[in-house]
Amino acid sequence: MSDTRIYLDNAATTKTDPRVVAAMEPFFTETYGNPNSLHTEGRAAHSALENARERVRASLNAERPDEVLFTSGGTESDNAALIGLMTAGGRTSGHLIVSAFEHHAILEPAEWLAKHGFDVSLVKPDTDGVVSVAALEKLLRDDTVLVSIMHGNNELGTVQPIAELAAAAHGRGALFHSDAAQTLGKLDIDVQALGVDAMSFSGHKFYGPKGVGVLYLKKGLRFAPYLMGGGQEFRKRSGTQNVPGAQGFATALELMDADRVSETIRLTALRDRLEAAAVARLENVYVNGANVSRMPHITSLIVKGVEGEAMLLHLDAKGIAVSTGSACSSGSLTASHVLLAIDCPQEIAHGSLRLSMGRFTTEAEIDYFVDSLVPIVERLRSMSPVYDKMFGAQSA
Ligand SMILES: Cc1ncc(COP(=O)(O)O)c(C=O)c1O
Repeated sequence: MSDTRIYLDNAATTKTDPRVVAAMEPFFTETYGNPNSLHTEGRAAHSALENARERVRASLNAERPDEVLFTSGGTESDNAALIGLMTAGGRTSGHLIVSAFEHHAILEPAEWLAKHGFDVSLVKPDTDGVVSVAALEKLLRDDTVLVSIMHGNNELGTVQPIAELAAAAHGRGALFHSDAAQTLGKLDIDVQALGVDAMSFSGHKFYGPKGVGVLYLKKGLRFAPYLMGGGQEFRKRSGTQNVPGAQGFATALELMDADRVSETIRLTALRDRLEAAAVARLENVYVNGANVSRMPHITSLIVKGVEGEAMLLHLDAKGIAVSTGSACSSGSLTASHVLLAIDCPQEIAHGSLRLSMGRFTTEAEIDYFVDSLVPIVERLRSMSPVYDKMFGAQSA
């Protein structure tokens, strides 16, 4: 089985679905006009762009098509939301709250804002990986402009109570943004029911193309454009639009919507099978966020006494792609900020593995993964001079 690759890193990116590639193709070579041109080619491209926007609007249940802005991906949507909403109308100070386990696409612009006159607070998730309304309420202030809390955490898979958090922010007059790069297509997202003012999405996380995203931005909000130029995307995001990308995004989203219920059941069963087998066959292994609401396709395992990166490389040699929260290769030996935010001790956080399943994952692949992981972990632990001393007795 090791000649064929097993891809368990769908939270990093997904294989573009061949049906999405087919839907995009005509917009490279046939309907290739600039959607902002007035001639026939331009008008054809414009109607393809608006058709994609309308399909995304319908899926999100946004009120109006001009609330759907096409961007270059999740990172741009996150950066634009934070900087665009915080600095709108020439604002140079004010309070921003983001959660401590956000993606760096949120944390870095938050740090940038902190260096440029804004006050930034981090709200901590609990040890299960959930940000509570009570924790947010403690930080909300009269001058809080914006709260940004992700929908589904990319490392843990835990789902945040967005509707309740948004209501708490609104209760104190603050806006609410959520990074939903990991959840679009996997959870039912209705922006009006959730009550968000802005939400970020990324096409390549749900079998769409890389380099295309969406920022949902509720009509009527003051927003400072992050990219300036030709005034495209309702003067909020300049740059000639990626028409094939927009078509790919819309098609990928419709494919997700079409079988979400059955895929949720299938992926949850695969995830539970993986977790049950790993915990039963290996001592000192546990699942982060096991008892809270999680996305169906992500498992965050802690394997005590083993480096995540060592497991990753050994699994890779067996034909399996996974991800880890630790970053030894950078030489920094820093554990994932996500695991530290949920109070996972440094030395344990280094043994993290993130497995993320997807549309193309099979039960046989999950079984092969567990059959491969068990001897790898046993060997690495047997070679460790400290494992028995630190973790010898089953303590998970
Ligand atoms: C939660 C989250 N936000 C943002 C991003 C960035 O998205 P993109 O790769 O489209 O820039 C990712 C992707 O890793 C993510 O998981």
